[in-house]
Amino acid sequence: MRVTIESPLALPCGAIIANRLCKAALTEGLADDMNRATPRLERLYRAWSEGGAGLVITGNVQVDRRYLERPGNVVIDGNGGLDALRAYARAGTAAGNHLWMQINHPGRQTPVHVCTEPVAPSAVALKLPGDQYAAPRAMSEAEVLDAIARFARVAATARDCGFTGIQVHAAHGYLISQFLSPLVNQRTDRWGGSLENRASFLREVVRACRAATSADFPIGVKLNSSDFQQGGFSTEDCVQVVRWLGEEGVDLLELSGGSYEQPSMMGVRAKGEAAPPVADSTRRREAYFLDYARTIRAVATMPVMVTGGFRSRAAMDEALADGQLDMIGLGRPMCVDTDLPNRLMSGEWAQGESYERRIDPPRAGLAWFCIQLMNIGDGLAPERELAGAQAIERYARSEADAARGLRGR
Ligand SMILES: Cc1cc2nc3c(=O)[nH]c(=O)nc-3n(C[C@H](O)[C@H](O)[C@H](O)COP(=O)(O)O)c2cc1C
Repeated sequence: MRVTIESPLALPCGAIIANRLCKAALTEGLADDMNRATPRLERLYRAWSEGGAGLVITGNVQVDRRYLERPGNVVIDGNGGLDALRAYARAGTAAGNHLWMQINHPGRQTPVHVCTEPVAPSAVALKLPGDQYAAPRAMSEAEVLDAIARFARVAATARDCGFTGIQVHAAHGYLISQFLSPLVNQRTDRWGGSLENRASFLREVVRACRAATSADFPIGVKLNSSDFQQGGFSTEDCVQVVRWLGEEGVDLLELSGGSYEQPSMMGVRAKGEAAPPVADSTRRREAYFLDYARTIRAVATMPVMVTGGFRSRAAMDEALADGQLDMIGLGRPMCVDTDLPNRLMSGEWAQGESYERRIDPPRAGLAWFCIQLMNIGDGLAPERELAGAQAIERYARSEADAARGLRGR
């Protein structure tokens, strides 16, 4: 039978996802000053649960309160708040969907207003203008082992609190992605050098998360199809890592790409990378990583999800029917239209909106989408006409407030 966005998906662990649409991870910044879950998260995740996606993945949850992707992250490291996490999980599964916690450590992509001495596999600073990120120091062996144990503890807590799965964040230039990258990982011990060594941190994390949960608990991994950087983690590397992830019993592979230095996940093309011709198929014009997905899926023993650019039902069904992927990840449109999956499946809408195309200036994009998430968390209506400059100002203010909250605790 032809696979469509409504088709259920069975995972290797035995879990069933009701349809092929996933609300991809979107950082919310809605935790309290102790980085615990809040009623604002409950409101947001209830909306996504009721929006129809078979799988809802949380924004990145950190394993260590010293190293955050942004001040308002949820953190699980002995800071309490388990009842709040349970309420969050209840709200996020209200409609019977899967709710997976994305678990992350940002490594050197920890902003300086959170931490002035972040850690990374090696002391290699981000190549970005400005001074938003301090130079990292290399992690000791003990710190590497501690980080692995932290991922496992968070996985166990997620399961105990009612999240129905987890996703290990190994993409976008965060710590695991830094270990995979030969540009950032210059270690000469067992965690660096060959691809096998560079991938061992990810493999150990997945193994530890499995050991801390159970064989029937879904474990996903978000991985870059490529870092899109000369000398960085390549598609060839990705293919081999995916083979290993199959051996580790990973249940769902989400393919994305890029990092803060090269934001391909948002559709920004690397230097010299050509855009697909306009006459090309709908799916190739829309989705950023489809060409890579084909190569990677050929070796994947687990279902593959691709996130980035999908907007129209036609492109989604075309890619599913062709067997290029098994699941569709949706990011930015879900920041405004939380019920997009229901609208696509009912046929009411043929496509989600590409809000990013009309945000002016384009660099306001991230702030603009973050403000929309805060609005939903506060029970307010979306602000589709919000001006880019205003989004930047409001976002900067809320980040500064959250950073002050952390310092005051
Ligand atoms: C506001 C915002 C927050 C995001 N937060 C995360 C995150 O916490 N973890 C993650 O893996 N990706 C994150 N992403 C990336 C999305 O999951 C997704 O890969 C990206 O938006 C591309 O998909 P889209 O074209 O459907 O938006 C974020 C994107 C946006 C716009």
